[in-house]
Amino acid sequence: MTTKTVAELLSQDVTLQDVTVKGWVRTFRANRFIALNDGSTINNIQCVVDFENFDEALLKRITTGAAVHITGELVESQGKGQSVEIQVKALEVLGDSDAETYPIQPKKHTFEFLRENAHLRTRTSTFSAVMRLRSSLSFAIHKYFNENGFYYMHTPIITGSDAEGAGEMFRVSTLDPKNPPLTEDGDVNYKEDFFGKETNLTVSGQLEAETFAMSLGKVYTFGPTFRAENSNTSRHLAEFWMIEPEVAFMDLAGNMDLAEDFMKSVLSYVLENNKEDLEFLDKRLQDAEKSLPQAERSPMNLIDKIKFVVENNFKRVSYTEAIDILRNCKPNKKKKFKYIIEEWGADLQSEHERYLVEKHFKCPVILFDYPANIKAFYMRLNEDGKTVRAMDILFPGIGEMVGGSQREERLDVLKEKMKALDIPEEELWWYLDLRKYGTAVHSGFGLGFERLVMFATGMGNIRDVIPYPRTPQNAEF
Ligand code: 4AD
Ligand code: MG
Repeated sequence: MTTKTVAELLSQDVTLQDVTVKGWVRTFRANRFIALNDGSTINNIQCVVDFENFDEALLKRITTGAAVHITGELVESQGKGQSVEIQVKALEVLGDSDAETYPIQPKKHTFEFLRENAHLRTRTSTFSAVMRLRSSLSFAIHKYFNENGFYYMHTPIITGSDAEGAGEMFRVSTLDPKNPPLTEDGDVNYKEDFFGKETNLTVSGQLEAETFAMSLGKVYTFGPTFRAENSNTSRHLAEFWMIEPEVAFMDLAGNMDLAEDFMKSVLSYVLENNKEDLEFLDKRLQDAEKSLPQAERSPMNLIDKIKFVVENNFKRVSYTEAIDILRNCKPNKKKKFKYIIEEWGADLQSEHERYLVEKHFKCPVILFDYPANIKAFYMRLNEDGKTVRAMDILFPGIGEMVGGSQREERLDVLKEKMKALDIPEEELWWYLDLRKYGTAVHSGFGLGFERLVMFATGMGNIRDVIPYPRTPQNAEF
């Protein structure tokens, strides 16, 4: 007799003798009904215990959180909301769970509380659904690239380069903090960090991905990235996962097409394959919104929001057009923007991005051709000499989901830009080599995986879509 998962058992429409299942008790009601979950599905299987046939001492050990092994007959259920249930014949407690101290009680817990118990929160319905969706999206991402001729490349985690030039890096050091090597001026000599080199945790695999695109054609990375920014928002982590495709001979328009097709494809994958989890999360959100006044409730439910993105074109708008819209709009009669855009060239704040997607266009927006001086050094300068072929994809409820660009492929222009920004050529000699030997137009983008998971699950805080969030406040576990 093989052990079946709860998902397998619940999809049976025939009765079976002697099934066996292992999982964790969610609740035990009236000394009779065990709701059992093993993580294979959002649903619990009901296991009915005839208490007269079991030792009282054993039944006392059936508490929320206990790991149990159940054998019994799978029969049609009398209860509402489930097709089958198990009539328990044999019951074994594999691991006890003290009902007094077990943190996950059978009641509603706040997300803040569950974050402090991140090691147990995936035993709740909401977090198990989120993590199954996260897993499913990861799989859909690899599937998409695999089916579209991309190679999966691993880029280094410890690196000497600052891909974004933003200086938000975690130092990686082998130095003895008590006895660090010093410069002639008596400062710590960080050049000695990693056996003679200054090194950091990667902020993006892009520059290395470019080297592979310029030999293998179509590549992508999907790995952890690190930003030492001290931002305490619901959309920033110090450690997050990023998907970065990079393609040779592809321009910015091709990059937009790729990003849009890719996002639609992975979202339709979960619509098809994670129906039950999505329905559960959708209902959770609708219940949570019931207490809000009608005007503050979401106009669309979760599944419809995802369908809307999959079925409609993203709006493509240049930075210049966006600025015109923002300068001429009245976001709200009473409440103006905190930061007023005075002139062309200013960077957009998240309030502006959200206005564009949520109020003005009401759909995902691809903003492109940004002013050169607010974007990274590697972006392709346009013929106007002041904008670069950059794109950001903004999503309703999330803001920036993707950042990407066509890369500067001209050696002289790139060198000039690096000089202007004080980026030493010696540090990126290998990056410059790509422009020296067989240079070509190429493009790519980076998608913040957790922001995608937020969109697909409707979760409002990025800390709740990654198993163990790393933020200035959360670094336990
Ligand atoms: O816009 P970013 O900084 O772009 C890059 O790193 C490029 N090198 C990518 C490329 O072209 N290959 O980051 C890309 C995306 C953002 O749009 C956002 O979704 C996410 O990464 N992101 C973060 N997600 C969570 N926490 C943070 N601190 C993030 N910073 C960026
Ligand atoms: Mg960005």
